[in-house]
Amino acid sequence: MGLIFLIAFFSFLIGSIPSGYLIGKTKGVDLKSTGSGNIGASNAYRVLGKKEALLTLLFDMAKGFIVVICVKNLPFAQNLKEFLIPIAIVFVVLGHDFSIFLKFKGGKGVATTYGSILIYSNYAYIGLLLWLIILKITKYASLASLLSFSITVLLVLIFETSIKVKITFLILLCLMIIRHFSNIKRILEGKEHKIEGRV
Ligand code: G3P
Repeated sequence: MGLIFLIAFFSFLIGSIPSGYLIGKTKGVDLKSTGSGNIGASNAYRVLGKKEALLTLLFDMAKGFIVVICVKNLPFAQNLKEFLIPIAIVFVVLGHDFSIFLKFKGGKGVATTYGSILIYSNYAYIGLLLWLIILKITKYASLASLLSFSITVLLVLIFETSIKVKITFLILLCLMIIRHFSNIKRILEGKEHKIEGRV
């Protein structure tokens, strides 16, 4: 039990590091009050530029990736890892979404979600590819995130045999939808921010 709590706490703490917000601050910009108000790569692209967006994307993905690699390579608790890894995945995304360093406000968890599932399930690569294609066509980052991950989860539900993987992906999808409520509202009203240009 202690180990589960420790992994959850460690993952939440790493996920809480607000990469985009910190990168924005180095340029004197508060991403939380500019553009869409999100601290993710899409808003960094709108407000700061390509280089900062790429850095934000890589850092946010790395948080998820590193946490899962660490748990996967723990030299002990081998028989617990099938539970510890999903816990790490969910908590690193929760940390990003409700950052301890931003008074429990945070991002939308897309990059961290994809980073954390890269070595957990090959379906992550399908999702990432879909994300790129939908973004290229629509220019809506939120739509790309929601659609790509929904399709990924659908594929996981149909083809994946592990119930733990299915549940993990479903939790991640729920979190993503919850964090995109404002985007969904804007999409439905035709007022969503596109990825290009300042808003
Ligand atoms: O990764 C976040 C994305 O799905 C939406 O970001 O800035 O368009 O609200 P944004």
